[in-house]
Amino acid sequence: MEYFLVGLISYLCGAVPFSYLLPRLKKIDVRKVGSGNVGGTNALRAAGPVIGFTCMVLDALKTFIPVLVFAQLYNFDKNFVGVASIAAVLGHDFPIFLKFKGGKGVASTCGVFFALCPACGFVFLGSWLILTILTKYVSLASISSLFLASIVALFFDKDIAVLFFLLSAFSTFRHSDNIERLLKGAERKTDLIGMVKK
Ligand code: G3P
Repeated sequence: MEYFLVGLISYLCGAVPFSYLLPRLKKIDVRKVGSGNVGGTNALRAAGPVIGFTCMVLDALKTFIPVLVFAQLYNFDKNFVGVASIAAVLGHDFPIFLKFKGGKGVASTCGVFFALCPACGFVFLGSWLILTILTKYVSLASISSLFLASIVALFFDKDIAVLFFLLSAFSTFRHSDNIERLLKGAERKTDLIGMVKK
């Protein structure tokens, strides 16, 4: 019963679709523009850097908070931590409030990184920023940085690293379309520096 409640609360937190709600303020439906993904990157391209980066931060916070709270409450018990983390990210990917059509779990997994291994979170952020700026392919930067942070987690805690690899693999699976486009050289480019300078 306790696992169920932890899972349900974490899922509901993760399911709040910030990347859908904030662009709506500008009357933009991210499901109908760009990649159609309900995620910070699509919000960034469609609604600009202020809304886009705010979506990313809120999408990370909505998993960071429940995972950190439950981890503290259950003394970092690996089962409770695993249930809270997986449920929160699944909430983002399959939100009940949007007929279960959500995002790819990048910012939400980053929130889990920060909650359980802050150093891994910073590695993710640094690597994501550098790779996005250099390649302009957010999907490539996201997938590579997720795995890099998971590798770094191996130096801290094996169980947490396994959880991170699992979440990274699932997010990679959610990027199947992006991977196909990357291989064809047809992936959307996102010029972070250009957007911020505008
Ligand atoms: O956060 C998802 C990102 O890695 C790719 O987003 O909109 O380009 O499919 P998008």
